[in-house]
Amino acid sequence: MRTLLAVAVTGAVMLSAGLAAAQHHEHQNHMDHMSHKDHGVSAADTREFVKFPSELVEHTMANMRDHLLTLQQINEALAAGEPEKAGKIAEKRLGMSSLRLHGAAEVAKYMPQGMQDAGTSMHKAASRFAIEAQNVGVTGEMKPALGALGEVMNACVGCHASYRLR
Ligand code: HEC
Repeated sequence: MRTLLAVAVTGAVMLSAGLAAAQHHEHQNHMDHMSHKDHGVSAADTREFVKFPSELVEHTMANMRDHLLTLQQINEALAAGEPEKAGKIAEKRLGMSSLRLHGAAEVAKYMPQGMQDAGTSMHKAASRFAIEAQNVGVTGEMKPALGALGEVMNACVGCHASYRLR
């Protein structure tokens, strides 16, 4: 019974996430070319290969693993009822404040424009999430923060759907 309930809840969450994503896309036409609209996994790899110097590939991959760790820690802080902590983590590790940390200026010159745009939209969305997460303490309203977090993930997904480094 527990398992059944868990499955039902997971299904509902996925459904609402899908709906939110669909609504989101209506407003974000400029992101459409980067969005992963076809949810089936296709064997054909249509991602554009982007050539980075090899040490920058290593550096970028390490950053990427930290991005995923950061999402996990944000989720954990939100689940613990600590949205302000989640916001601080996001700003420092993914937001506009993280640009120097990631050596963004140096990496950007190897990126096609669409890839730069995906990076910029991730940093901006993370900073927006940080603000919305601070607001939760005042308004008690979690939805704007979760929406902004969804936009951060949308930038991850969009860039991954379009580009590869190896
Ligand atoms: C501007 C583009 C871009 C954005 C934004 C981006 N990534 Fe990536 N990411 C890449 C590329 C390119 C690769 C390498 C893919 C390949 O070559 O197969 C990658 C790889 C990864 C990997 C694999 C690392 C490894 O060691 O194999 C993880 C995990 C990852 N990204 C997580 C994230 C998360 C989480 C986010 C969002 C918070 C994110 N990325 C945002 C471009 C991006």
